Amino acid sequence: MADKGRFPHYMIKEIFDQPQGLRDAIEPRVSLEEGIVKLDEVRISPEELRALRRINIVASGTSRHAGMAGQYMIQELTNIPVDVDYASEFEYRNPLIGRGELTIVITQSGETADTTAAQREARAKGSRTIAISNVVDSTIAREADGVIYTNAGPEISIASTKAFTAQMAVLFLFALYLGQVREKLSKEQMRRYIRELLELPGNVETVLQSAPECEQLGEKYHKVQDFLFLGRAIHYPIAMDGALKLKEVSYIHAEGYPTGETKHGPNALIDESLPVVMIATCDRNDPGSVLRYEKNLANIKGFKEQSGRVIAIATQGDETIRRIADHTIFVPEAQELLSPILEIVPLQLFAYYMTVRKGLDVDRPRNLVKSVMLE
Ligand code: F6R
Repeated sequence: MADKGRFPHYMIKEIFDQPQGLRDAIEPRVSLEEGIVKLDEVRISPEELRALRRINIVASGTSRHAGMAGQYMIQELTNIPVDVDYASEFEYRNPLIGRGELTIVITQSGETADTTAAQREARAKGSRTIAISNVVDSTIAREADGVIYTNAGPEISIASTKAFTAQMAVLFLFALYLGQVREKLSKEQMRRYIRELLELPGNVETVLQSAPECEQLGEKYHKVQDFLFLGRAIHYPIAMDGALKLKEVSYIHAEGYPTGETKHGPNALIDESLPVVMIATCDRNDPGSVLRYEKNLANIKGFKEQSGRVIAIATQGDETIRRIADHTIFVPEAQELLSPILEIVPLQLFAYYMTVRKGLDVDRPRNLVKSVMLE
């Protein structure tokens, strides 16, 4: 698994590993026939899970972006309030947590010093903890009450890609598991969600076919100095991660922003020199998603009127967006809580090809290490 195989770099290999990583994260833990999620590794009793009052998610970097997506998943499927923190800031806000609460720490390496410190703080205050980690028997996994491994396989490239999509899949599984234990989801709902989860790896394979288009975008945009990445609701963390991926490997300045916030300041920056990467997918079966889509459409039209250039991530078959955006990368239609796992893939490919086009070392960006073991 730690071999580059037919690929020139680990990053692109790991991007293409994602369908298999997702299968390994999802398939052993679900039964479509029975309509159940099996997560014995949680090691917190159903009684305790039923009594939970609040969940805190704490992580760093890309893992925190997975946590932000997890917040939407857990709140939507269980109605339990969820807070998300930067691990490096956690202790400074004197978190008012304690018994009856759960802290989920998310970490690919399981060794990140800020996240270890946050988990210790949460435990000292009486909170139960669950680690979502990619490395078996890592420090953070050993110290947690329960561990859910992401099973994504070793991630060598410094930029996190396959661990991120596996983290989001595991957070969705955990949200379903909580919904099941707390009897919030009917068998029929459980089966529908499990079916959608099982379709994810195949859908990621479809998105990977957009690699040549992402390479062309790299060719066209690699000299640009700044980018804005925008997304609403659960797509906002994906905008954040798309921007992080681009800046850390290509050294191009990129910011992730909630789309609705552009009118409160950043819009002043948008013209032909600041391209906007806009996540504008739509789950046509979800009225909330359709409403957000209409707002995104109005935003794109506004950006075009002020000479902005728009690269859109849209749902397969969306001719409206294809007509108004400068470039459109399509992803298959999915239920809104799962579409982030598809949307991040072209953004990873974009960051990869931009960097390769600039002739930089994509697997080993300057000043960064794979496991940040010092606070
Ligand atoms: C970005 C990236 C970092 C890590 C962060 C946390 O691509 O890889 O932002 O996500 O340093 O690392 P882990 O998940 O090992 O705790």
